Amino acid sequence: MRNEKVPNHLGIIVDGNGRWAEKRGLNRSLGHKEGADNLKKLLLYIYDKKVPYVSIYAFSTENFKREKSEVDFLMNLFVTLFTKEFLTLKEKGVKVVFSGRRDPLPKKVLKSMDFLEEETKEQKNGVLNICLNYGGQYELVDAVKKIVEKGIKQEEITKEVLEENLYQTLPPLDFIIRTSGEMRSSNFMIYQSAYAEYYFPDTLFPDFHEEDFDRAMDVYNKRNRRFGGN
Ligand code: IPE
Ligand code: IPE
Ligand code: MG
Repeated sequence: MRNEKVPNHLGIIVDGNGRWAEKRGLNRSLGHKEGADNLKKLLLYIYDKKVPYVSIYAFSTENFKREKSEVDFLMNLFVTLFTKEFLTLKEKGVKVVFSGRRDPLPKKVLKSMDFLEEETKEQKNGVLNICLNYGGQYELVDAVKKIVEKGIKQEEITKEVLEENLYQTLPPLDFIIRTSGEMRSSNFMIYQSAYAEYYFPDTLFPDFHEEDFDRAMDVYNKRNRRFGGN
C-alpha cells in the first residue's frame, strides 16, 4: 500500500463482536473484550499509516436496549480502556475526544472519558473521536438546541454554523468501514458522512486486523469520488 493515499477522516463502525463470541459458544461480552483488544492494536497501526482523524462507533444511543448484563460489561470495559489501555494512544501523540449524550452514562464512565480527554488534549499527531452513547439524529437535535440557546438568528444560520454546533468540529468523513457484513449506517455520523465512501467487509470486528485494513485502503484508493461533479 505504499504511495496510496489514506483518508483524512476514517470512520469505523465496530460490528460483529457478539457474533464472534456466539460462533465460539462464548458469552457475547467476551466478543466485546476481544473487539476492544483488537481495536487498541488496530488504532496504533492506523495512526502509523498517518490517518489524521479517526471516528469510532463504540456504543449507540439505541444500544441501551440490550440486556443489562451486556450493557454493564461494556460500561466497565470502557472504563478500563479509557483509564488504562488507550494511554498507548497518548504515547502515539493522539488526542481523544468524545461524541454523544452524557446522560444516562454512569458516572464512572463519564469520569474515565473526562480523564482521557484531559490526558491527551495537547497531543498533535492525530485525533480519535469516540462515539459513545451516540446517535446521529440526536446530534442534529442537540446542535439545533445549542443554536437556539445562543440566540442565533434565522438569517445567520449557515452550514458552518450548524457544523460548529455539532458535538465535535471535525472534517467530513471520507471512508467508513463497517465490519460483519451489515450494510447500514445505524445512525453513525449522518451529517459528516454526506459524501463518505462506504466499505462493508464480511469480517467480524475481532478478526479485522492490519492486513484487512490494508485491503480496505486498496479499496478506498480505487473509489472514484465525484462530489456531485463529473
Ligand atoms: C458491535 O458488536 C459492538 C457494539 C455495538 C457495542 P455487536 O455487539 O453489535 O455484535 P453483533 O452485531 O451482535 O455480532
Ligand atoms: C451499531 O451497531 C452501533 C455500534 C457499532 C456502536 P449495532 O449492532 O447496534 O447496529 P444494528 O442494530 O445492527 O443496526
Ligand atoms: Mg451489531
